Amino acid sequence: MSNARFITLEGIDGAGKSTHLAWLTAWLQARRIDPVVTREPGGTPLGEQLRALLLKEPMHLETEALLMFAARREHLERVIQPALAAGRWVVSDRFTDASFAYQGGGRGLPQDKLEQLEHWIGGIQPDLTLLFDVPLAVSQARMAASRELDRFEQEQADFHARVRSAYLARAAAYPARFRVIDASRDIAAIQHDLATIMEGLA
Ligand code: TMP
Repeated sequence: MSNARFITLEGIDGAGKSTHLAWLTAWLQARRIDPVVTREPGGTPLGEQLRALLLKEPMHLETEALLMFAARREHLERVIQPALAAGRWVVSDRFTDASFAYQGGGRGLPQDKLEQLEHWIGGIQPDLTLLFDVPLAVSQARMAASRELDRFEQEQADFHARVRSAYLARAAAYPARFRVIDASRDIAAIQHDLATIMEGLA
């Protein structure tokens, strides 16, 4: 495992991504790989400010998409591309697939507009995208247990159902880089799958 890799984690809200991100980071570190761990929206000082707005302020759907890609442009320029160029692994909690799932699937922004934005920022594709998939009921129960819900988490169940379908459609469209993980199972089973996937990442 020498070549730098770009790994992204995706899933609907309440899919348990954060727990798996921590496990994956520790798994890499145990193999003497010290990844750059980052997130979207965010990952840079400006991106984190945009994140605060995106998660809280009501805005037009296109504004939302543009700000997601604006944050991503900074993220690519300041974090992702320099790290990969320096031979570091990058693990990002969400990336462009989230825009296709949330702004595209969830909010109904036409896919060609998202593709234009992706093209415009010269977006690179991850080497591996781990999609943590859970049935809506699991995600809803996890969100109900959270204290404070952001603007996306507050959306109705049908929004999250569309986001999930859009993620699964992306996984079907790009099978070479996507791995879909049934994240409704117990944690040991999920970690077993993750280890197998990671070992297969030559
Ligand atoms: P998080 O809760 O996983 O940190 O993500 C923040 C929220 O931002 C989450 O509800 C998904 C949403 N999001 C989008 O709508 N579009 C995007 O492009 C990204 C990266 C995140």
